[in-house]
Amino acid sequence: MQTTTRPLEAATALAGTAEGICPVPRHVAIIMDGNGRWAEARGLPRLAGHRAGTENIRRVLKAAVEFGVETLTIYAFSTENWGRPAEEVQGLLQLLEIVIRREAKHLHANGVRVRHIGRLDGVPERLAKAIRRVLELTAANDRITLNVAFNYGGRSEIVEAARSMVRAGLRPEEIDEETVARFLYTAGQADPDLIVRTGGEMRLSNFLLWQAAYAEYYATPTYWPDFDREELRRAVVAFSQRRRRFGRL
Ligand code: IPE
Ligand code: IPE
Ligand code: MG
Repeated sequence: MQTTTRPLEAATALAGTAEGICPVPRHVAIIMDGNGRWAEARGLPRLAGHRAGTENIRRVLKAAVEFGVETLTIYAFSTENWGRPAEEVQGLLQLLEIVIRREAKHLHANGVRVRHIGRLDGVPERLAKAIRRVLELTAANDRITLNVAFNYGGRSEIVEAARSMVRAGLRPEEIDEETVARFLYTAGQADPDLIVRTGGEMRLSNFLLWQAAYAEYYATPTYWPDFDREELRRAVVAFSQRRRRFGRL
């Protein structure tokens, strides 16, 4: 059985909780929701919310490093988000490309390893290229892994895995849970310990369906652009107070 939590000895970041020793989630996955409502509440176009949302990633990533998180997965664009008005989809894709190009150096300088989960086919070539470049650039970094779920859908991921297993010629008796996990986008990575959803909704929206089997959930009404270090700290502390049973007693 893998251990999924570990003590944060240098408890400065989370001082004030449990005598300074807190189990920190190794893998935190965030459903970054509420950009549109954040903008609407300010009388701004939805895209301004997406811009503020992408700016916020740097701040939360920094806090995750500080708290000792090893993997941060962020849900940036779902397979269902293609169904939004063309103007918003265009704007989002453009924004992502700009941010990836602009942040690549900074991410690399800070030891961030960027990974992509999702599909790149059907994605505009310029954006796909920018993504591939940052993956290559940061591949050897090991301070924190940032999984960007872009054009990601949990069901589509499982369908893809099933197809790949068939293509690989696996026999039914060769397929167990570990085999399936090896064929997912997250192959080789630990499952998320904590899933955070901003924006107040209580649903997964097709995020990490397989991997989330035993994740702890944390939802906050705070819109993503306002989700700061203190908000992440609260989520991590809430996690540290949960008792995970994994079906046992
Ligand atoms: C999340 O914010 C970002 C994406 C889904 C791309 P939303 O755009 O869903 O914001 P709300 O939920 O409409 O406020
Ligand atoms: C989930 O948010 C997807 C991302 C954050 C990228 P949505 O706004 O798409 O989810 P629903 O439509 O409210 O379920
Ligand atoms: Mg939303």
